[in-house]
Amino acid sequence: MAKRSFNSNGNLGQEPEKAKISKESIREALSLFAYIKPFRGKFIWSMVFIALSAFSTMIFPFLLGKMIDAASPGSQMQMPQSGMGVAAMGFDLKTVQWSLNTILLLLFLQLSVQTIFSFMRIYLLTEVGEKSLANMRTDLYGKLLSQPMSFYSDQRVGDLSNRISSDLSQIQDAISFTLAEFLRGVFTLIFGLSFIFWISRELAFVMLSVVPIIAVVAVIFGMRIRKMSRKAQDQLAESGTIVQETFLGISIVKAFTSESYEMNRYKKSIYGVVATAISNARYRGAFVSLMIFSVFGTIAFVIWYGVGLIRSGELSTGYLTMFVIFSAFVGGTFAGFAEMFSQLQKTLGATQRVRELLRQNGEEIELGSNTNPIVHKIIGNVTFKEVAFSYPSRKDVQVLHNINLEVKNGEQVALVGPSGAGKSTIASLLLKFYEPSEGHIYYDGMDSQDFALTELRKQIGFVPQDVILFGGSIKENISYGKPGASDEEIMEAAKKANAHEFVARFPEGYETIVGERGIKLSGGQRQRIAIARAILKNPAILLLDEATSSLDSESEQLVQEALDNLMKGRTSFVIAHRLSTVRNADKIIVIDKGTVQEIGTHEELMVKEMGIYRKLVDLQLEWSSLEK
Ligand SMILES: Nc1ncnc2c1ncn2[C@@H]1O[C@H](COP(=O)(O)OP(=O)(O)O)[C@@H](O)[C@H]1O
Ligand SMILES: [Mg+2]
Repeated sequence: MAKRSFNSNGNLGQEPEKAKISKESIREALSLFAYIKPFRGKFIWSMVFIALSAFSTMIFPFLLGKMIDAASPGSQMQMPQSGMGVAAMGFDLKTVQWSLNTILLLLFLQLSVQTIFSFMRIYLLTEVGEKSLANMRTDLYGKLLSQPMSFYSDQRVGDLSNRISSDLSQIQDAISFTLAEFLRGVFTLIFGLSFIFWISRELAFVMLSVVPIIAVVAVIFGMRIRKMSRKAQDQLAESGTIVQETFLGISIVKAFTSESYEMNRYKKSIYGVVATAISNARYRGAFVSLMIFSVFGTIAFVIWYGVGLIRSGELSTGYLTMFVIFSAFVGGTFAGFAEMFSQLQKTLGATQRVRELLRQNGEEIELGSNTNPIVHKIIGNVTFKEVAFSYPSRKDVQVLHNINLEVKNGEQVALVGPSGAGKSTIASLLLKFYEPSEGHIYYDGMDSQDFALTELRKQIGFVPQDVILFGGSIKENISYGKPGASDEEIMEAAKKANAHEFVARFPEGYETIVGERGIKLSGGQRQRIAIARAILKNPAILLLDEATSSLDSESEQLVQEALDNLMKGRTSFVIAHRLSTVRNADKIIVIDKGTVQEIGTHEELMVKEMGIYRKLVDLQLEWSSLEK
């Protein structure tokens, strides 16, 4: 069995947890067979090939035995053991005599057929496994993409995707490996047991009397050993974490001269692994020697008994040989079932979690065609009517209380207030990341609940504080706002966003790869790419959530210019930390503790002696004068 302790990223992945084998869990697992359905023809063929190849494998020892008997004609069985029907017709496999050459020919025929069967079963099953898994992966990815925001704030996303990838590998293994092994095991048992009983019932009983004892020993030791190896694996993963940590923070390690501290930490962890491995070796050693003893003991005993049967003429040398080889097949299959059982448990655990995810209801977003025409074109009037909100993950805490807002199209609205006041939450509600707990939001008089999600979001532009760029080129990142945009459109947007100049200075221009999450660009550059993205999207409503607060004053100016370009002629909600940037807003809304405290223009609000806005402005003025 291919142990997957490393996932595709090379990180130590978690072992899939096991699940109890129950009716429920098996039903869950079987429901995933729907993914095999499109390939059922090939799947059934591969099962047939597995059966054929198991049977064909069994022919080999049979022919081998025949060959031995052909070489020593003296040791022929004198009488067939059972008067089978075929014997009455003058043909009994047990007594039929073939020439040595015929047997060799049959052997090669068997081997050729065997190769074809084996090739076909591996090829077909891999195709079925890979293709059905690809569909499963795609469905899961789509499911995850369509989950609402609340799903992502509840889950640790990295954890989740790690778990899913190991769950899917487990399922894939099950389809293209464990299932085949299991079927082969079952066929081998059926054929093998029939063969050995056919050869000699007496000897078969002698042999099988030992099996239960071996099986019990194997199960007891097997459990213990597996537990210990899992512990060793976990410990190894832990030491891997130490290595990762220290190299990620190598500058800290060096600056604090804690090399020897880390060295000791690592050593301790590694010796923990060694201790576990050694104590595991005791069990493994005992188990293996016991196994060798009982297996070879059984063989010796069976041969001893079988020789007695040969002497009395009930068996030939060839058939005794066949018997021993068949017994080995059967024994090996039994041993394999223990591992398969544990794999089955893991697979059931994996399928349970995958099914759980597939069952989750997502948002109603359009996947696939992104070109549906917009039915309700928004002009940009936005109304909040008695909106209250608490996050689904913390229902007892109301974050917004009774918010009433009236925004005309084309207006620039600034949302200001201390951090934690609920400004970003308002932006999330506008994007329909969440539904208001009470009250309604209207776009041009139409209730947000009546809008299709995709349609609404298509008409809203969003520039967050931390711009996330995707790993591709600058061009790709800008055209994210309008898939299929022409080069001219992209460049036009970049110019308006004050981004064209710095992009043009890169040797590869718009084809420059920005690096994972855009690390190759500065904060201000990333911000301007995001603005170009929003310009290209040309939304009716614009949300800027502290889009300039993490920038230095020079790039802030460039970004601010770009933003002013962007806001022209559209309804804009600007969440701003630096109040100087929103002085010209048509409306300044002061939010504190989830309620609207003040609404007005800069001048109107500055008049209020005891007003919050005035206090905030005075505070910032003091700070900036201190800075100078
Ligand atoms: N995903 C979330 N789940 C639960 N509570 C949240 C979540 N996001 C924000 N909050 C809480 O909501 C309140 C308002 O947050 P936010 O709207 O981000 O404030 P800000 O005005 O600084 O943007 C805060 O008390 C915050 O702790
Ligand atoms: Mg915020």
